[in-house]
Amino acid sequence: MSNLLYLNASPRGEQSASTQAAQLYLDALPSSVQVTRVNLFEAQLPEFTPVLAEAKQQVTMGQSLSGDAKAEWAAITQLVTQFLAADHYLLAVPMWNFSVPYKLKQYIDLITHPNLTFAMGEKGMQGLASGNAVVVYSRGGDYSPKDGKPDPFDFQSPYLAAWFGLVGLGPVTDVLVQRTMAGPNATADAVAGAKDQLISLAQSLATN
Ligand SMILES: Cc1cc2nc3c(=O)[nH]c(=O)nc-3n(C[C@H](O)[C@H](O)[C@H](O)COP(=O)(O)O)c2cc1C
Repeated sequence: MSNLLYLNASPRGEQSASTQAAQLYLDALPSSVQVTRVNLFEAQLPEFTPVLAEAKQQVTMGQSLSGDAKAEWAAITQLVTQFLAADHYLLAVPMWNFSVPYKLKQYIDLITHPNLTFAMGEKGMQGLASGNAVVVYSRGGDYSPKDGKPDPFDFQSPYLAAWFGLVGLGPVTDVLVQRTMAGPNATADAVAGAKDQLISLAQSLATN
């Protein structure tokens, strides 16, 4: 058995283009892959309170926590434990104002800390997570890379690529579901366009 963590960053439920595409991937997974799904808009993620922000400073400086800081930090370590337990990752990520929805950013801020998800070693930063990732990017418009370079307005996939590098995930495969607002059938067409790629990516886990 292997574990897949599915982070869904759309609040749109079954209407969501990224969710529909991600479901095609999930449906094609080998039965040996166990899926944990986190709907980031429903997950009641902790707020970064002043206590939590102070706790992060202390953890970063290698200090131990006590009292309220220790109690609030427990929610962080719980999320980190779940994140690190996965062997594979699937993310459904709509583009919001050229970047990622704030709930995904909140999740990233909550789990990304030195000595929890990355370490600062002699060779620089080293990720403490491992595993391959598939990221479904849904976009109203078309932000395909041009001449091997990201679209200048795409702050979504370059940002996540940098973060995956920091925490140690790879290889990462981007699946683009684009032009979802181009007409009445646009979402269905965009999802259908990604279907073969998603099925083949899911089936490749059988040989991993
Ligand atoms: C708050 C918000 C901001 C958006 N910003 C952009 C944007 O900058 N560029 C774009 O192409 N589409 C934008 N869209 C459209 C979504 O990216 C598009 O509808 C996408 O398919 C939504 O994915 P989902 O159906 O999985 O939620 C935005 C939508 C919302 C709700």
